[in-house]
Amino acid sequence: MKFFIDTANIEDIREANSLGILAGVTTNPSLVAKEGVSFHERLKEITDEVEGSVSAEVISEDSEGMIREGKELAAIAPNITVKVPMTMEGLKAVKAFSDLNIKTNVTLVFSSNQALLAARAGASYVSPFLGRLDDIGHNGVDLISEISAIFDAHQIDTEIIAASVRHPVHVTEAALAGAHIATVPFKVFDQLVKHPLTDQGIEKFLNDWNKQQ
Ligand code: E4P
Repeated sequence: MKFFIDTANIEDIREANSLGILAGVTTNPSLVAKEGVSFHERLKEITDEVEGSVSAEVISEDSEGMIREGKELAAIAPNITVKVPMTMEGLKAVKAFSDLNIKTNVTLVFSSNQALLAARAGASYVSPFLGRLDDIGHNGVDLISEISAIFDAHQIDTEIIAASVRHPVHVTEAALAGAHIATVPFKVFDQLVKHPLTDQGIEKFLNDWNKQQ
């Protein structure tokens, strides 16, 4: 499983990229709004920093609008992936982008049927939202397992992005369930790196070393 970072914050993106583990970035309208910056300028900064896929979401609700917006976004850099919501109009736009060789990430996926439809429309990625399913008493990780089994059974090469990842257990479970990618907020990367026994171990090694000096 590869890692994307789920943010529009350029400092967090640079910090995660310096760890050498970053395969891409996902943004969404809420994350961009939080930054209070120009969307296109921020996307340019991100695509200059990161070589992998950078998902940029359209806000139109009709396919014509999505296609117009997506073409403008895709013109910013070759590694832009157009993020499209899982709706009838979204599927029409995905088909059009696929014909234009523009990569797409179908977002707000909450069922395996939605994932299958998105894949058949030509999506490069589908994004099932783990945390938001857990929030309403469903099991987000079970959805990843189901999508993974369906894609394997039908030789579908659309990649599964585990999204709405809230904590380290989600990351482990998404990897075991067959997600190709987890898109993770910076806070979760920090949690993934740290372990109390690592910190204790470093402290003990340094104390022992210093006693001999
Ligand atoms: C995915 O691409 C979305 O940006 C994101 O993971 C949503 O996460 P949230 O449910 O924590 O807002």
